[in-house]
Amino acid sequence: MVKSTSENALPNRKKKTDQLPRRSRETAVEKRRARAGKSAGGTAVRAVFLVGFMGAGKSSVGRALARVLNWVFEDLDDRIERSEGRTVAEIFRDSGEREFRRAEYHALRQLLDELRGGSVKVVALGGGAFVQDDNAVLLHDSAVPSVFLDAPVEELWQRCRQQAGTERPLLKSQEQFRRLYVARKKGYAKASVRIETGGRTIDEVASEIARKLGLKKIGIRTEQGEVE
Ligand code: S3P
Repeated sequence: MVKSTSENALPNRKKKTDQLPRRSRETAVEKRRARAGKSAGGTAVRAVFLVGFMGAGKSSVGRALARVLNWVFEDLDDRIERSEGRTVAEIFRDSGEREFRRAEYHALRQLLDELRGGSVKVVALGGGAFVQDDNAVLLHDSAVPSVFLDAPVEELWQRCRQQAGTERPLLKSQEQFRRLYVARKKGYAKASVRIETGGRTIDEVASEIARKLGLKKIGIRTEQGEVE
């Protein structure tokens, strides 16, 4: 599936003069963790999940972050499409959302097993993955940090509308989009950190993630993202 292709700017970016360096608040624990380069579980951070609503820039920021860190980037929806042999839109259309969520859960479990094996990855989760109860248990147990990329819902809507090549089965009316965002927001807020992306570039957001989580660049990596 082709996600946002924007190279260096989140779609619908405001003019430079409008860009306030709005920093989401860091707790003392987050700051200490960032300095130590540790996850909530105390182990060295070797992966990070980018979460948030459709249009948040999870894939674009994820690719930029992976480039900066020399980590491998993965989009969970791509893994689902490979294992199912059909696109996300086809799964929704032919088998329904429940079947998509089942495939998403299994893809996430498989990915987490690989991360436990030492893969070093930046992972973009689909917009609904982080707020499904079963997935939340898996993610919590993994202790991999998660980053909630957020923006005003009107901006998220506009970004999705501009990404004409991306088929999003849950993108219907603006009102339905807003209601779904509101319903999920509490779930996203359980992420390790929240980062505001409104009016900011992809590279700015990627740098902030690396700084806040104390993510370190690696020298050499294998196909699986393992440090040699
Ligand atoms: C979904 C978002 C999509 C994709 C699927 C379901 C959601 O991913 O996983 O269509 O539930 O919000 P993006 O957030 O990358 O568009």
